[in-house]
Amino acid sequence: MATRRKSSSTAGKPEEIRFEDRKASPDDPPLAPPKLGLILSASALFFAPFFYLLFYHYQIEPELRRSIAINAAMSFGGFVVAVRMIPVAARYVLRRNLFGYDINKKGTPQGAIKVPESLGIVIGIVYLVIAILFQHFNFTSDSNWLVEYNAALASICFMILLGFVDDVLDVPWRIKLVLPSFAALPLLMAYAGHTTIIIPKPLVQYVGVAVLDLGWIYKLYMGMLAVFCTNSINIHAGLNGLEVGQTVVISAAILIHNIMQIGASADPEYKQAHAFSIYLVMPLLTTSLALLSYNWYPSSVFVGDTYTYFAGMAMAVVGILGHFSETLLLFFLPQVLNFLYSCPQLFKIIPCPRHRLPRFDPQTGLLTGTKDGTLVNLFLRLFGRCSEKSLCIRLLIFQALSCLLCFGLRHFLAGWYK
Ligand code: UD1
Ligand code: MG
Repeated sequence: MATRRKSSSTAGKPEEIRFEDRKASPDDPPLAPPKLGLILSASALFFAPFFYLLFYHYQIEPELRRSIAINAAMSFGGFVVAVRMIPVAARYVLRRNLFGYDINKKGTPQGAIKVPESLGIVIGIVYLVIAILFQHFNFTSDSNWLVEYNAALASICFMILLGFVDDVLDVPWRIKLVLPSFAALPLLMAYAGHTTIIIPKPLVQYVGVAVLDLGWIYKLYMGMLAVFCTNSINIHAGLNGLEVGQTVVISAAILIHNIMQIGASADPEYKQAHAFSIYLVMPLLTTSLALLSYNWYPSSVFVGDTYTYFAGMAMAVVGILGHFSETLLLFFLPQVLNFLYSCPQLFKIIPCPRHRLPRFDPQTGLLTGTKDGTLVNLFLRLFGRCSEKSLCIRLLIFQALSCLLCFGLRHFLAGWYK
């Protein structure tokens, strides 16, 4: 968000842009080093089961395995590049006055530091380069997929652009809400896949058919999914590490879900849909981990709406192309709850302040929940005051439990539901 306004929201009056402020001083303190130890050990939690399922547990065709392994190697390369690029880009955005103040540290020396904003732009660019280059290594002959793959990339690219526009221009809330529907257009226009849904078995007797063709309504649903995924990540935010952390947890769950579907199916088209999903989600996961190494508490960079929109759009297109939007929405359970709880404020039934964040006490370093309708505040009210880091960890554990619940539901309802 436009830093100038962000700083104004905390200072109370608009900040003047002085020319001399535009130059970063040569003795600017360097960015704190990335928390790589923490990130790499956390990564083992989900990459270990993923590679176990890919190489040992399931019998997967060597070609497909090879494509996934190349994608993993390129994604790891993206991680390394992003870790190196973030400090460089951070200097440039600071020079352009693109920074924010850490609201949950207000009143402490850390709260007065200008934290570089919108570093999601680095992640978005590295992601796009990997996803574009990877097409060279996709060894399937079905080129129809490439049309949708490139349309998906166009949507993600458009979303990164609009997110960055929002960060720089500070777009009003009602316009923010609709930006993702424009970004989703390339995918919606190019989408040539089926527009049918399988009716859950217990409902077939009421609907009368087992498979229902929704036609254009299906495309409308896809557009709404993109709007929901992007905005719901953007409003479940405001704690160091939360925006990126939730994306990491959800994309890890998507990755494992995809490999389980590939392993359990014999239908080549179904496998291909999930393979494409893997190709798009793996670089999202690794580049997000790179960003998390700087954004984890205490954040040395902020991700900006560039990142929240980009991550939401990437996950939406992955769910659309992989045909598992219901599962995706179950992975998004905390975001769904946060959105429902936010509705009265989002739709202006009750007043909505610029930031709906908890109250920080600089004496104790603890956060207290306010009356604003967010999951962040609800957790503080339900489980008591705690530090920003503990609150973020609690929310991420809740995110992981929602994903596990989704895996459990899929397992127990298989055969009965669909
Ligand atoms: C959304 C939320 C808003 C929340 C904000 C925090 C709604 C309707 N909007 O607005 O309530 O306060 O996200 O991201 O729910 N910041 C921190 N610590 C962090 C991350 C961000 O203090 O860990 C602050 C910084 O000042 C940063 C600013 O939030 O500059 C970024 O806010 P922005 O993403 O522009 O807010 P919105 O997405 O508009
Ligand atoms: Mg935001």
